[in-house]
Amino acid sequence: MRNEDACFDAWLAAVGDKWNTPGGRDIIWRVRASKTPAYLAKILADDSISANEKLRFLRGFDFLPATEEKTKALVQLATLGVKADEVAREALMRLKGNKAPEVTQALVGALSRAKGTAEFVDLVRDFGVTGQSEALLETAVAIGNDPAAVEAMKLVLNDPEWEGIVTKALDGPNAAAVLNLLGTTASGRGLGCLTTIVRSPQQKPELRKAAVQALARTQSGAEALLKIARENKLTDDLKPTTGSALRIVQYPALKADIDQYFPAPSGLGGKPLPPIAELAKLKGDIAKGRAIFERVESSCVTCHRVDDKGVDFGPGLAEIGTKLPKEAIFDSIINPNTGLSMGFETTQLTFKDGGVGMGIVRSETGDEVVLALPGGVSQKFAKNTIAKRDKLTTSMMPSGLNQALSQEDLVNLVEYLSSLKKK
Ligand code: HEC
Repeated sequence: MRNEDACFDAWLAAVGDKWNTPGGRDIIWRVRASKTPAYLAKILADDSISANEKLRFLRGFDFLPATEEKTKALVQLATLGVKADEVAREALMRLKGNKAPEVTQALVGALSRAKGTAEFVDLVRDFGVTGQSEALLETAVAIGNDPAAVEAMKLVLNDPEWEGIVTKALDGPNAAAVLNLLGTTASGRGLGCLTTIVRSPQQKPELRKAAVQALARTQSGAEALLKIARENKLTDDLKPTTGSALRIVQYPALKADIDQYFPAPSGLGGKPLPPIAELAKLKGDIAKGRAIFERVESSCVTCHRVDDKGVDFGPGLAEIGTKLPKEAIFDSIINPNTGLSMGFETTQLTFKDGGVGMGIVRSETGDEVVLALPGGVSQKFAKNTIAKRDKLTTSMMPSGLNQALSQEDLVNLVEYLSSLKKK
């Protein structure tokens, strides 16, 4: 070390203030002198260096012994602030476990900068920070369909104070979003909380409906709903919502029970539809069709977006009238399982613990899969928890949605969709 110090000092003396060149930076990266951390920190604070290169210099710290100089340089980087977020965060990660007051202070600063973003969730988890559950919950609602929202909710549910915090949030304006996330965690506590709401007739009707939809997000939640129905504890006002929510998820193992307890409503009164070629000739009413698309009972907006209405789970429909002729739109609704759109194929994951998840794979890395679920939330799964992965030939879009519509409603709906053209 001493020798390296002497060599590094001699080199610094020789180059003077011209040390910051590609060659100079390389020397700094290689040498393990006591001054190396301070120079690495200078390089990392230099805006002319690319983000990729910065990561290499950050890794340079990993080869240096734990010294006071190293901690000091990392604390300095960790407090850089918004401009160097990634560098600051990586530096902070390298200080994990260090209880020094300046490290705690850097962490507090990073947490307050990251609040409301997925990074906040990572920081709380990785540093085991406690007492952040309310902020986690707010963050989860703010980041909506980012898989980190579900992580955040899981962290909240691990807090001994979770019950009070969740109850308070359910009194606020974001109750439906909170319930949705509770359902997606598929955790015992989350499901318990939701089933209690469904079983309590004195709760607000909107909350109970949202709790039903949240439970339907996962197979274990759908099973809990069926159990309530079997025990005859599902009040009549919830039956239509429960039926349509459960028919949306289509878990093969539950199909028979769902059909038995929640037979599909028949808007047609049993009358068969005329062939699509005939339907396509009928003229509908665009405004009425739009109302049908947007109403919750039709369930289209649980999975599709048009402008600011609905959710991006299935394909966006804002330009569907340009993409598909009327016949094809009718066909998509009446026969969703023929010709699945690219990128929207259904994947079923069977987990080693026996659980099942069904959705659309949004992205994937070497060790994780992100699965999108109807309703707009996404969930991240570690590949080593997955026992089996099947691509299904059925669409996530349920068949029989048109059966809940009269022929007139269906024609209006398609007239509306067909009017949505590329601007
Ligand atoms: C549970 C989620 C879900 C619901 C509910 C749902 N869809 Fe879909 N929809 C999908 C998915 C996923 C696809 C893409 C896969 C496929 O082609 O079936 C799709 C495809 C479509 C397409 C074809 C889009 C294209 O770009 O080719 C149309 C049109 C459509 N849906 C209309 C509707 C209408 C109208 C409703 C309401 C009556 C509805 N959907 C309800 C998930 C859903």
